[in-house]
Amino acid sequence: MKKALVTGITGQDGSYLAEFLLEKGYEVHGVVRRSSTENFERIAHLASRIRLHQADLLDQLSIIDVVRETEPDEVYNLAAMSFVPTSWKQPVLTGEFTAIGVTRMLEAIRLLNPKGIRFYQASSSEMFGKVLETPQRETTPFYPRSPYGVAKVYGHWITVNYRESYGMFCCSGILFNHESPRRGKEFVTRKVTDAVARIKLGLQSELRLGNLDAKRDWGFAGDYVKAMWLMLQQDKPDDYVIATGETHSVRELVERAFACVGLDWRKYVVLDPALIRPAEVDLLVGDASKARRQLGWKPEVDFEGLVRMMVEADLERWKRLK
Ligand code: NAP
Ligand code: GDD
Repeated sequence: MKKALVTGITGQDGSYLAEFLLEKGYEVHGVVRRSSTENFERIAHLASRIRLHQADLLDQLSIIDVVRETEPDEVYNLAAMSFVPTSWKQPVLTGEFTAIGVTRMLEAIRLLNPKGIRFYQASSSEMFGKVLETPQRETTPFYPRSPYGVAKVYGHWITVNYRESYGMFCCSGILFNHESPRRGKEFVTRKVTDAVARIKLGLQSELRLGNLDAKRDWGFAGDYVKAMWLMLQQDKPDDYVIATGETHSVRELVERAFACVGLDWRKYVVLDPALIRPAEVDLLVGDASKARRQLGWKPEVDFEGLVRMMVEADLERWKRLK
């Protein structure tokens, strides 16, 4: 039985990845940070099948201890401060978690078992920022537009560097935006689908949004965790773009989500200048042909299916709560 260690297991991707690895027969270990109230909602249904360990990406010794105790074959480093606007409010902390945290994970592996452990780093299309090429692929230069994006560029290159310096099996997955009913409610897709459900049920009257013109390549998180695993099953470590190849504006997202419940979005959406970012990523669209060719990976859920899935899940949830 293979063993996997997942940081960020309480997050959206961590919960789908844990499910996926359990189905593959893995022994799954997760890293959680200590808090006064537990935040295990997304993995509650897996509680009896996974093992959780307290450690923090800010604390090198705790990371070494957890790798030593669990002796994993594969480490998936998903933990990060992942919300872009917060990275302007807490740029130093974002750098500590999202950038230097990657080096702490790599150092733990280098010290304990550099040839035996395979490492996945959760890199991001946010690194392309003010894009220098469209569509964006593995060779497109980075131009990050937020402290989060800058930190992820560091995480990407330190992963490449440990591969090249020490011959470690390190992969960086450059994932474009991926969503699900488990997405945090501050991200735009979930903010919209949650509001659509509440407005439909008479629980909310308006939805405040920022830039409706930004375009994203949105996929389904359940499809994307499979790509993470595939990267670690190859003969050689490498970096891959994971994306659908389609782009849609926030306006289109809003239009489609309201249409799912038969409402006209123009009656409810209010533009709020406070939600405009200091620097914006205007357009993301990925070329995942390398992943398709080498990993045999392709997305199963399209944009329309994703929006419908999320609206329906939020409607069901709010109906139950009501
Ligand atoms: P998420 O839902 O925000 O989850 C982030 C996870 O990181 C949570 O489990 C969080 O734990 C954990 N974490 C944060 N700081 C930590 C620390 N100091 N020590 C230990 N754990 C810590 O994010 P996600 O959407 O699942 O994304 C997973 C990863 O992929 C992130 O690195 C993100 O930046 C990256 N990524 C995401 C996307 C996307 O579209 N979703 C695209 C590209 C890359 P708590 O529960 O304790 O907060
Ligand atoms: N969150 C949010 N809230 N975004 C809004 C809003 C709003 O009210 N109104 C407009 N937007 C726009 C943002 O300006 C941005 O252009 C777009 O919607 C998407 O924002 P988010 O859903 O917050 O995601 P993100 O693209 O900034 O970052 C996500 O994807 C990255 C991959 O490209 C996160 O998951 C990152 O962790 C991830 O790396």
